[in-house]
Amino acid sequence: MEPATYYLETFGCQMNVLDSQLVAGQLRTRGWRPVRDPFDAQLVLFNTCSVRQHAEDKVLSRLGELRQHKTRRPDIIIGIIGCMAEREKHGLFVRAPHVDLLCGPGELDRLPALIDEVAERHERVAALAGSFSRRTEVLQRALEADSLEALDLSRAPDTSESVLQSYIRVQRGCDKFCTYCVVPFTRGPERSRPPEHIVQEARMLAERGCREITLLGQTVNSYIHQEAGRPVPFAQLLERVQAVEGIDRVRFVTSFPADWDDDIFRVMRDYPKIMPYLHIPAQSGSDRILKAMRRPYTAKQYLDLMDRARGFMPDVSLAGDFILGFCGETEADFAATVDLVRRVEYKSIFVFKYSPRPGTAADRLKEDDVPAGVKLQRNRELLAVQAEISQRQKQNYVGRSFEVLVEGYSKLARRAQRAAAAQENSIDAIQESEQDRGAEISSERSRQLVGRTTGDLIAVFDGSPDLIGALARVRVRSVTPLTLHCELVEVTSPARPVAEASPVSADSAGEPFAADRVGLKLRVVSTPTSAAGLNGAGTLPQL
Ligand code: SAH
Ligand code: SF4
Ligand code: F3S
Repeated sequence: MEPATYYLETFGCQMNVLDSQLVAGQLRTRGWRPVRDPFDAQLVLFNTCSVRQHAEDKVLSRLGELRQHKTRRPDIIIGIIGCMAEREKHGLFVRAPHVDLLCGPGELDRLPALIDEVAERHERVAALAGSFSRRTEVLQRALEADSLEALDLSRAPDTSESVLQSYIRVQRGCDKFCTYCVVPFTRGPERSRPPEHIVQEARMLAERGCREITLLGQTVNSYIHQEAGRPVPFAQLLERVQAVEGIDRVRFVTSFPADWDDDIFRVMRDYPKIMPYLHIPAQSGSDRILKAMRRPYTAKQYLDLMDRARGFMPDVSLAGDFILGFCGETEADFAATVDLVRRVEYKSIFVFKYSPRPGTAADRLKEDDVPAGVKLQRNRELLAVQAEISQRQKQNYVGRSFEVLVEGYSKLARRAQRAAAAQENSIDAIQESEQDRGAEISSERSRQLVGRTTGDLIAVFDGSPDLIGALARVRVRSVTPLTLHCELVEVTSPARPVAEASPVSADSAGEPFAADRVGLKLRVVSTPTSAAGLNGAGTLPQL
């Protein structure tokens, strides 16, 4: 079909943000051009999330806005990709009859072919893993894995895309089956990517100006890959990625508290390029609830893990997730969670009200018996406890200096809005989410710059635009709930001139199979703006 315009909007976790980048890359290499308004596009794609009902409702409401438009313009193509397509399957065609295309997260390498099919045949198409994903034969799974691998390797960011901080997937899927969670059903079985492919991607990104890499996996610390008959565990992968020339910072999310290997702490301590930041969701502080969630650890074991982390890295920043109002959660269970939060002293926490997900064990076997009002109350209470801890911690930072990677101009409006929300004590509004990452960066020029410290705190300070992309040392003058207000001390490593993007070649992406197998034409088409709508979602749940 004729190259045309597309609109892509992303909901969900960092995995989806990365998938959207790959999808945008596929479209771009075929000559598609991004637009900012779905009503101007010939192809509208929503990359969706199913982790809570609220995430799905947002997509349904965005879809609703397009219903009339599709009646007037039946030639446009509307596609639902990602986790919600996989969870709802063909049922989505019934709920939203104006949708033309469904594509699960494990099938994204087939997306261009699906789009062509809809355009040519004017029929609906769907590519879903369905029941295949977990039980298919070894050969089928290997083939699926290969073509998805090719999609990751085909990544070719163009000059309009900022790669200063980039994600790399190290693991697909999840095998943990926590009773509340839909992810193992939408993302399929856990598979670790070959370490050489990950390193290759890191090199390619570094060549294009990337300085910070975040490795992504649902349970990233359980990464293990057999290489020439020898296992490469996560600690070794970290060592290899941090050794890539040009990469100055390595982070990783999200870690699973069970089966922890202290070698990970050792490499974090020994290699300064690995950032002292750990996101390790606890979900609850009550052993009874942890058991009901099928989380294989006790609160005591979790607290011991946090103590060990601090033993290795006294300055480590800790983050965690909590689900409030899970089936059967009593006041005593909630009190145990509050107690755990007080004891850990996190840098930040992400708090979610339990949302039953169809098909999960909790939805089948347990009653969602905590009233919505109680969930909300507990949610606010826990955030208030954390707000107090964060404020206290930040006060201690006044006068200290930190190294930051300067990410861009600070978004003054957003800060002002958050400060106002904080004053009104509307704690929900000041919950920082890992997926809000980047939201503090503005496209408008200003004297005020923003960056993240090694421990992942947001720092703003006055400086000139040529500092964007530099590593700099800043000193904290004052603090607000989410931000360190700083002054520049020195530039520790200036911004690097960004090399012209060149197509992925055998040199930069390893074997040429990456391109061949997905049938991509490796031509970089420059785009007028960075992928419009990518990151367009409001609050994004983390991995
Ligand atoms: N892989 C990550 C979590 C992925 S989902 C991990 O295991 O740590 C991101 C977060 O969403 C989870 O940590 C959990 O706190 C929350 N979550 C998942 N399912 C949920 C549900 N059904 N209701 C409410 N919150 C949920
Ligand atoms: Fe997997 Fe995390 Fe979901 Fe548990 S919460 S099933 S570990 S993705
Ligand atoms: Fe899928 Fe990520 Fe949401 S794995 S369900 S998009 S949190």
